[in-house]
Amino acid sequence: MRRVLVLGGTGQTGSRVATILRNEGITSRIAGAQARAETDTDAVRFVWNDRSTHEPAVRDVQAVYLLAPPLDPKPAETMVPFIDLAMRAGVRRFVMLSSSAVDVTDPGLGEVHRYLRDHTPEWAVLRPSWFMQNLVDPRHFLAKSLAAGVPLVTATGTSKVRFVDADDIARVGARALVDERSHDKAHVITGPAAFSYDEVAAILTEVTGIPRTHVAVSTAELVERHVEAGIPRAFAELLAGLDERIRGGAEAEPTSTVLEVTGTPARDFRSFVERNREALGVRP
Ligand SMILES: NC(=O)c1ccc[n+]([C@@H]2O[C@H](COP(=O)([O-])OP(=O)(O)OC[C@H]3O[C@@H](n4cnc5c(N)ncnc54)[C@H](OP(=O)(O)O)[C@@H]3O)[C@@H](O)[C@H]2O)c1
Repeated sequence: MRRVLVLGGTGQTGSRVATILRNEGITSRIAGAQARAETDTDAVRFVWNDRSTHEPAVRDVQAVYLLAPPLDPKPAETMVPFIDLAMRAGVRRFVMLSSSAVDVTDPGLGEVHRYLRDHTPEWAVLRPSWFMQNLVDPRHFLAKSLAAGVPLVTATGTSKVRFVDADDIARVGARALVDERSHDKAHVITGPAAFSYDEVAAILTEVTGIPRTHVAVSTAELVERHVEAGIPRAFAELLAGLDERIRGGAEAEPTSTVLEVTGTPARDFRSFVERNREALGVRP
């Protein structure tokens, strides 16, 4: 593998994938809507709805880390032509970030998953559960609640989520990109244990000393709360629907993917909280 194009290379998982590859001596070309060159990597501006940015991005690369266009209900319409263009330019391997909530039979990213499986020579699909980083990513509504000192509000009830560290998603992704033998499968990536949001609030309180609580609401109420917070209604409904799925138990079962693919165990939630005490509000 000589060069890997990392879409979303400035984002949470892509930046970590690029760092791992760099440490292994593999050049990554970082692509982002506002990407800039760094010291020992090259970078390229890549915007999904600006097709003129696609061909320069895939020039002279052998593998692509694929991130979907944000908030696009029909990502296949944009992604499939890009995948075809990349294959014509010589790309053999695609590793796409999807989600544990999206199965291969689903519409949306499920459609791209099927396209990769059926039409590309080498592929893998990453299906991570909920990111631990949602609690510290200032764009995320959970991190916003913590920063504002208000309860975490979900429609998950008392059901559990197998939170995963973005570092582990990237570690699995990097292996899928550069292992000699292509994985040719979907990886459901989780942390080593699952927690309810009540338990999340309890661990946050214990480790940071800042009292945290969780309030369980109905799916319909969560939609209204998201809308009031400025989230567009269609996306608010999608987010609340994902909580409903959790409430039904869909995210409760941890997998051993991280250990199997990387040889080292997935990071646990408590140690994530300990490492991120400052981002979680503890004064230095
Ligand atoms: N959070 C969760 O719990 C969770 C769980 C499962 C799956 N996921 C999936 O994870 C994905 C997000 O991944 P992430 O957290 O690694 O990314 P991220 O941190 O949200 O970063 C987004 C990246 O995409 C780039 N980007 C934004 N708009 C773009 C556009 N129009 N064209 C091209 N690039 C664009 C950004 O580039 P610039 O910075 O240059 O703008 C940035 O590098 C989503 O698809 C989500 O569904 C999330």
